Formats: sequence, C-alpha cells, structure tokens
Amino acid sequence: MRSVIPDYLTEALGDVEPDTSGEPAGYIPELASADPDRLGAVFATVQGEVYGAGDIDTEFTIQSISKPFAYALALSDRGFDAVLAKVGVEPSGEAFNEISLESDTGRPLNPMINAGAITAHSLVGPADLNPAERVERVVQGLSAFAGRPLRTDEAVCASEMEHAHRNLAIAHMLRSHSVLGEDPRAVVDGYVRQCSVLVTARDLAMMAATLANRGENPLSGERVIPEPVVRQVLSVMFTCGMYDAAGDWATQVGIPAKSGVAGGLIGALPGQIGIATFSPRLDPHGNSVRGVSLFERFSSDMGLHVM
Ligand code: DON
Repeated sequence: MRSVIPDYLTEALGDVEPDTSGEPAGYIPELASADPDRLGAVFATVQGEVYGAGDIDTEFTIQSISKPFAYALALSDRGFDAVLAKVGVEPSGEAFNEISLESDTGRPLNPMINAGAITAHSLVGPADLNPAERVERVVQGLSAFAGRPLRTDEAVCASEMEHAHRNLAIAHMLRSHSVLGEDPRAVVDGYVRQCSVLVTARDLAMMAATLANRGENPLSGERVIPEPVVRQVLSVMFTCGMYDAAGDWATQVGIPAKSGVAGGLIGALPGQIGIATFSPRLDPHGNSVRGVSLFERFSSDMGLHVM
C-alpha cells in the first residue's frame, strides 16, 4: 500500500508556505543571499524509512545544528568528566551569541550557545590534534551521523570569518579563563568551518534519526556514538537547543531539537523518528519561522510531545 506520509507532508508545507514573515540571517553576507522561499520537510524513522516533501535535497550550511553533534563527538572522544569540566549543561535563557559564562569559573553555561559550542569544538578528537586535523575529525563525525561524506562551503566559511568579531571576542574571554587552552582564532576558525558544513534536509533528518536510534545510523548501521552520550546530548537539546525560546518550545512542541541560522531545524524522538525542516526566514531568536510552525503541527497532529 502507498504511504500517506508524503501527502501529509505536502499538505503541511502548503499550509505554512504563505507565511513569509522573518528574514534570512543577515550577519553572514553569504547567508543573506539565500533563496528565502525554500521549504522542505523530512521524516526518517529508526527503521530507516525516509519520507519527504519540498526542497529536501537542496544543500545549505548546517550552522548551529552542528553543535549537538560536535558536543557528542567531544563526549565520545574525551569522556564526560573532561567535557563537563569545560562546558556546563544549564539553560542560559539568552540569545545564542550572548557571552553566558559562569561568573566565577568562566565555564560556558551549555554547549548549544556559541560560547559552549566553541569550547566543545576545541574538545573534539584526542588532545594532540592540530586545528586542521580537528576539523577533519568533525567533518568525518558529522558525515557518519548523516551516512554520507559531507564537505564545507568555503564561501560561507570565509564570509562568516570576515565578520566573526563577536565569536572571536567570546573565544578570547574563554582563553582568558583558561577554558580554551590554545589560540582563540584557530578555534573560532575551526568552529566556523564546522558551521559551514553543507547538508540537505534529508541529511539532517538522518542525523536526527541516528540520535533517535540511540547512536546507530539507521541506514548505514554504523554506531557513531555510545548510548550514554545520546542521552546527554538529547537532554541538552531539550533544555537548551532553542536558546531563549527553549521553554516555549518544550511546552508547545516537546521534542529535543536544534535550529541553525541557515534555516534548518531538527528534532529527535528517542526510539521513533528524526525530523528535519528547512526554511531560511528566521524569527528574532534565530529559529526558522516556518520550521517552528511545522514542528508545532507535527507534534500536535501525531502526539509527538514527550510528556
Ligand atoms: O556562531 C554563529 O554565529 C553561526 N555560525 C551559527 C549560529 C547559529 O546557527 C545560531 N542558531 N540559530
């Protein structure tokens, strides 16, 4: 029998399509020129079934959606104690690019905000990796989550580096507190490269499905990260993944999630499904306007709220 899921997705996309509120991210010039009308949604189950509608194979940069995956790699590579010593797990209730460091230790509050993500990036791989080798480990790790080889968008990367003053300032603060133990510029460069990895909505759904499948990619069968790491990552996504909109998201949608400023949005429901949407216009929190509407609808139509 033909699945009804693509019809459902097409109808859901049609309902949110008229909403043209919000703007693509303007602070990275290469992103500001993105086609704002792109729209797609994909469901990937833990059994490896993939259903999609709209722009599901259009490439865009992963941006902040890389953060939970890089955090997962850091936890796998260095262990919980080493990572928790440098990055906390408390919601900041602030914007993604706020400084949000603990006042006494300088430890970033969580790995979903930029301060914590820059730190988590520095903790990927063995301690003796140089910055280029670390980026390679990150791209290889993200690729394993997606189940295909991914690459960076050099134009977006260069464009962001030219305007990375705020992330550089945050990294210098982290260095002054010895949370970062190396050259802040090299770490920001690696973090920006991590953000510039190109993905499609289909890739993102598969990456989310790998989290939902407790760390094993449902299609390739590769175990990407151990199960205890998945629990840690999904918990932090639930409480911190949507920044200063995390509370609204937790009550209204109720799915561990992460957004990115290129317009991607993922959700992962343990034991069930990975969901991804793509629509570049953003709300004031930096979350995709139509992506948030789609997730609200999916959660309500299918009873996906974890509570
Ligand atoms: O750090 C930055 O500014 C970006 N490269 C990533 C930010 C991002 O995607 C925030 N999420 N909505």
